[in-house]
Amino acid sequence: MRITTFAEYETAYQKSVEDPESFWAEIAQEFQWRKPWTKTLQWNFTEPNVKWFVGGKLNITENCLDRHLATRGDQPALIWEPNDPSEAGVTLTYRMLHDQVCRMANVLKKNGVVKGDRICIYMPMVPELAIAVLACARIGAVHSVIFGGFSAQSIADRINDAACKLVITADGAYRGNKEIPLKGTVDDALIGCPTVERVIVMTRTRTPVSMLKGRDVWMEQELKHVTADCPAEEMDAEDMLFILYTSGSTGKPKGVVHTCGGYMVYAAYTFQNVFQYDAPLGERAPTERSPVHFCTADIGWITGHSYIVYGPLACGATTLLFEGVPTYPDAGRLWDVVDKHDVNILYTAPTAIRSLMGFGLDPVKDKDLSSLKVLGSVGEPINEEAWHWYDDNIGKNRCPIVDTWWQTENGGILISPLAGITKTKPSFATLPLPGVQPVLVDENGKEIEGNGVSGNLCIKFPWPGILRTTYGDHERCRQTYFATYPGLYFTGDGCLRDEDGYYRITGRVDDVLNVSGHRIGTAEVENAINMHTGVVESAVVGYPHDIKGQGIYAYVITDQQPTDHDAELTKRDILATVTRVIGAIAKPDKIQFVSGLPKTRSGKIMRRILRKIAEGDTSNLGDTSTLLDPAVVEEIKNGAV
Ligand code: PRX
Repeated sequence: MRITTFAEYETAYQKSVEDPESFWAEIAQEFQWRKPWTKTLQWNFTEPNVKWFVGGKLNITENCLDRHLATRGDQPALIWEPNDPSEAGVTLTYRMLHDQVCRMANVLKKNGVVKGDRICIYMPMVPELAIAVLACARIGAVHSVIFGGFSAQSIADRINDAACKLVITADGAYRGNKEIPLKGTVDDALIGCPTVERVIVMTRTRTPVSMLKGRDVWMEQELKHVTADCPAEEMDAEDMLFILYTSGSTGKPKGVVHTCGGYMVYAAYTFQNVFQYDAPLGERAPTERSPVHFCTADIGWITGHSYIVYGPLACGATTLLFEGVPTYPDAGRLWDVVDKHDVNILYTAPTAIRSLMGFGLDPVKDKDLSSLKVLGSVGEPINEEAWHWYDDNIGKNRCPIVDTWWQTENGGILISPLAGITKTKPSFATLPLPGVQPVLVDENGKEIEGNGVSGNLCIKFPWPGILRTTYGDHERCRQTYFATYPGLYFTGDGCLRDEDGYYRITGRVDDVLNVSGHRIGTAEVENAINMHTGVVESAVVGYPHDIKGQGIYAYVITDQQPTDHDAELTKRDILATVTRVIGAIAKPDKIQFVSGLPKTRSGKIMRRILRKIAEGDTSNLGDTSTLLDPAVVEEIKNGAV
């Protein structure tokens, strides 16, 4: 399934458009199925209803683990680099990982988990996190991983939305020089979560935690009483594999649902082709060192699901899991990890690159980065300066950079160069992968054809990794992705197609922010701010931020105008409220108190004006005469922070 030349890419692409079913069927056949599918694809984008490999039976962990045992059982599957560089890491071979996944799966079974149950995972970046994810998949339980930075309230919302039965967590997490109390946060969340019957707690920081009798058990204790014999549950291709919550422009985060068959095929296919992981299954001699793939994302995000866990393991690769942060103990840490483990593929986010650029070249100087072959970027547009810095100083101008564009809803990468095959262009995600049919549309949904054009990015045909629904609310899935432009999947992104037919993503066209590669809905932040006592109303917009890509700017109306002294305190109170309601990642960077917001006569907030003021561009605010209270714009402009 690996494409090795640009001509092969073109042929594959053409075939994938002309005959998508046989294109994907051929790829899917390379996996291990308990029972073959009877129909490759069934779909419509109106309900929507998408089914791939209909009637096929499989278990994704048999593909990620069991089938590698004979050929590469002793090859490293997972390398773990701890937060503290002086702590010993862990290397798990495929055999060891298989053994541990089976044991953890038996622990889940012993604690009453059956196929179809939803399991919440809130853990540090340790091997047990990947093991827990795979253990769920082994027995057909649906995992819902929650990023360790989310608050108790956010955890509770997600647990309740999916009616999770069990939570897997740890006492605490190490992140840089911080220790984060995971179990304490889970305890706070569970006050409002009646469906949770059991909490399995791993020991990581050994910080004191309360263990509730009858509900909480230690993972280490539980593991003592199980065997490593756990046959994989037979799953339908369209059975749910996982739920992952993500923000949109309205309301609470929604649970994006991915299913077993299509997701597996798509995550593996894109992993192997985009990064050119250089040994198709079975081709490498078992004794040969396998290339090391290092994705710096957290498993709490889709990038970690697809390119730390499922994609690499489905391809029999060696995946590196890093517990810490790029700046601890110093800004050379990522390069130390590359040097120490001879990393071949590094996949990170523009925000990390921009923040490391700020430390200059000293932290890179003495690091041996010669093992690197491919560099990747994901999560937000990469600016040219960051692209060149990455290319010059990390890749030393000899590693292709793959700027990969995709979303939680997509399961895997949709638009990206194939490393070393597609000619790259800084800040362009370049060309669609085989199976992906992008279209640009204007406001009315009319397709904009030809090159040298921009519009809203939609996809007109399903690929195997597309979301199937949003958990518990299919109508919301339809409304959000399939209703704006009938017949098309709408990404929410703006996009330019240049004269060469290359795609450049220009950012969200809806009210979704991208802060340090994290997707945050403005409405979510506003709801959190509005929960603070004394806040009457607020409006949140993004503005360009040197490191984070976008920063959060909040305009807040309080019931009493705070005095200067109060203002500082009130701002801090608001930040504390947002941290409590969502998590620290959603804290506004700037807060401006205002007496009113620019609204149309129908009461709609004119965000365009607020965005311009936040960007510091007040020269041309457009027509403000139709506003309910035009004077408020002057006041806001003068008080901008
Ligand atoms: O706006 C796009 C941006 O991130 C959004 C998806 O966010 P999320 O679901 O959290 O997934 C992030 C990782 C897959 C997109 O709608 N985005 C992601 N990758 C890129 C990007 N924008 C520009 N270039 C990219 N390579």
